[in-house]
Amino acid sequence: MSEALIKHFAKKLIAWHGLDGRRGLPWQSVRDPYAVWVSEIMLQQTQVATVLERYPRFMKRFPTVNKLAAAPLDDVLAEWAGLGYYTRARNLHACANQVIKEFGGNFPRDPILLEQLKGIGRSTAGAIAAFAFHERAPILDANVKRILARLFGIEGAIQEKSVNDQLWLLAQELLPKSPTDMPVYTQALMDFGATWCTSRKPVCMSGTKKCPFAKACQANLSDQVLLLPRKPIKAKSPEFDCDMLLLRHGNSVLLQKRPEKAIWGGLWSLPESVWRAKEKNLASHSEKAKVNLTAKELFKLVLPNQKTLTTLKASEPIKPGSEIKHVFTHRRLWMQIWHVSSSSATPFSGADFKWVSLHQLGKYGLPQPIKVLLQGLSLTRDDDLKN
Ligand code: ADE
Repeated sequence: MSEALIKHFAKKLIAWHGLDGRRGLPWQSVRDPYAVWVSEIMLQQTQVATVLERYPRFMKRFPTVNKLAAAPLDDVLAEWAGLGYYTRARNLHACANQVIKEFGGNFPRDPILLEQLKGIGRSTAGAIAAFAFHERAPILDANVKRILARLFGIEGAIQEKSVNDQLWLLAQELLPKSPTDMPVYTQALMDFGATWCTSRKPVCMSGTKKCPFAKACQANLSDQVLLLPRKPIKAKSPEFDCDMLLLRHGNSVLLQKRPEKAIWGGLWSLPESVWRAKEKNLASHSEKAKVNLTAKELFKLVLPNQKTLTTLKASEPIKPGSEIKHVFTHRRLWMQIWHVSSSSATPFSGADFKWVSLHQLGKYGLPQPIKVLLQGLSLTRDDDLKN
């Protein structure tokens, strides 16, 4: 049974794509390795609808690997703003430079070499090799793992190395014989996982569409489709609190560049305190917001190494502003925003501080929630804050 499935899988999947796959996406039928690479990195953790809007813009701004490598990292981060997972942008920039230095500006076609480049994992290396070079290289992202675990009734946890190894071998075995089929096959596999063999509503459970693998799929035959692949037991992600200073002078706001290695590394944000494990003893977060701070206390929290307090009334209490919750992959952060007006654009020591006009914010790479917060401010007059 499984031998017949292995033998006919690629042909059947490509036929499925001809009828029901996604077509007309701007990165499809592209063979320029640079363009393929950018689209694959952008698609890794961003929805297709967003990439449809942002990919052409990115390619216009950085049309070649040379242009991307030569650009300042800050420009790349600013162009990436809103797409999240900024390590991808930093890796794109580093990888572009690696391609110039180590490969004379040409992406290698061997997936083993591609995988050695910054930000390119084994599955993305396979996708680039297949799309750009027609290499018979497999992909194995979460969608493909799901498809294979179901089709072949793989019961083990896919996080386990032995199961993962087994899936890679299977992915290799299933490849079409002809290299020219690699782009359509790879795209079909991605599309099938994203639209038909989905995690929670696979078409075999709805009864309206007929899955081409229904009669061979082990999970379908044993009524285990929603149970495979087995889910790992997830620990709840930890929660943190921090205070953030929104210091304004007229139409300008004080920004601080975040350290490269931190979360949102290299982006411009508001000065913030250290993160504290969220206080569990408070019934609700708004209770904490009832506490007022003085400027002096606040500055000690968010700018402990700065002496400047001259333009602020140090002992005057400040009311807390909005609280923003942001969910990262592995942690949740509650940001308490404190609005303070300054009568002058006091200089702060260190290159990582900048007074930036609200109209110029577009030029800076900002974390998405901070960008939204400050964009809201450009509509508010500074005077409103003083009252
Ligand atoms: N996700 C990753 N690569 C993709 C692609 N080429 N098309 C659609 N979704 C994807």
